[in-house]
Amino acid sequence: MDATFDINFPGCIGQMARLLNRNFIIGVTGSIAAYKAAEITRELKREGANVRVIMTDGACEFITPLTLQALSGNPVHTGLLDTDAEAAMGHIELARWADALVIAPASADSIARLVQGRADDLLGACALATPAPVFVAPAMNQEMWAKAATQENIHVLQNRGITILGPDSGSQACGDIGAGRLLDPREIIESLVATFLTGQLAGKHVVITAGPTREPLCPVRYLSNRSSGKMGYALAEACINAGARTTLISGPVHCEAPPGVVLVPVETTQEMLDASMAASDDADIFIGAAAVVDFRPESVATQKIKREGSTTMDLKLVSNPDIIASIAARQVRPSLVVGFAAETNDVTTYARNKLKKKRLDFIFANDVSDSAIGFNSDSNAGTLISADNDITMALSSKRVLAETMIAELAKHLPET
Ligand code: PMT
Repeated sequence: MDATFDINFPGCIGQMARLLNRNFIIGVTGSIAAYKAAEITRELKREGANVRVIMTDGACEFITPLTLQALSGNPVHTGLLDTDAEAAMGHIELARWADALVIAPASADSIARLVQGRADDLLGACALATPAPVFVAPAMNQEMWAKAATQENIHVLQNRGITILGPDSGSQACGDIGAGRLLDPREIIESLVATFLTGQLAGKHVVITAGPTREPLCPVRYLSNRSSGKMGYALAEACINAGARTTLISGPVHCEAPPGVVLVPVETTQEMLDASMAASDDADIFIGAAAVVDFRPESVATQKIKREGSTTMDLKLVSNPDIIASIAARQVRPSLVVGFAAETNDVTTYARNKLKKKRLDFIFANDVSDSAIGFNSDSNAGTLISADNDITMALSSKRVLAETMIAELAKHLPET
């Protein structure tokens, strides 16, 4: 095993995790190349991906599930009718979990079964049930590969939108020479990276604010809100995946910053403003996903405020600066300044007012009266509003929503 690889660390050392948090199912079928699934699994983990492996009965004759379990960090799925496995993660759940199903190596028989839509084993059932893209990396004897039956099957799969990776040519385990070898695992990984790493923001700098700000009342108390930072961190991940240099200015949260992001931790609104101004000099896009505390105590007690028998307490608050409006008002400003509006009623009307008042290019209106949307949820939904267009984004994970939003914003950057 590569000395720099730590199986407990799902990223990699000294290299960008280009498939960070992507969910891959590796389907391994009965082929002498089954052992190469170990390298594919290991490389995907190095790229930051989550990997679950499905092995057919044939695959288990060539390589043990234990190897792929150790490398993927997850139990290997083998049987369709295994009640324990189904209780832990059923085949439909597994199929929905995947961002991609990669069948590597794919034997001639497994390809024929895919063409028929067979669902009498776990791999076939998942291939039918997954809405995710399917990749097939064939591996077989050159004669079997060249046969009309296999070639016709491959064309059927391609016509259905399945991506065929390889095969390679060269000397084969059986002694033959010709086409049919499994594509080099590194080439398989590069094809997957090319699919997921969009490059839409290559060469661009995106600055994102995330999480809450905190305004101290005294050394132990503060005013804040329920923002978890999940939305802002998902946007940062989407920007990294789109090839952007990404600065994330974050209030106090428990999220982990995606590798490659420049993280600037802040606490108060003034600190967030200062960091935003400093980072935005050369920014192409500024996104304000933070829930900024609008008012701060006029004075901060130097010692803990005591109750001392009082039943009421007056707090005098003063207005905080508006960070995103300050960025939008800069003489040299980012090409796109994008706000979020957390509203509970008349959502798009209030959002549209903020778009104009703060001189934003876009604002994402989310209705935070719904517990599945906005603060501290894993999902979000809303409308991306600009002066001349509204785009509705359906309920989805914050990760997917962030990707959709970043892809949309990328279209509006001026050509360079
Ligand atoms: O962090 P999560 O738990 O994932 O939740 C996500 C979210 C609900 C925080 C996010 O989706 C969201 O809606 N963020 C904006 C929250 C908000 O407080 O919006 P607002 O309507 O008060 O502010 C409008 C815009 O102005 C926002 O872009 C905000 O960052 C910005 N603003 C507000 C006040 C201020 N003083 N300075 C600002 O820059």
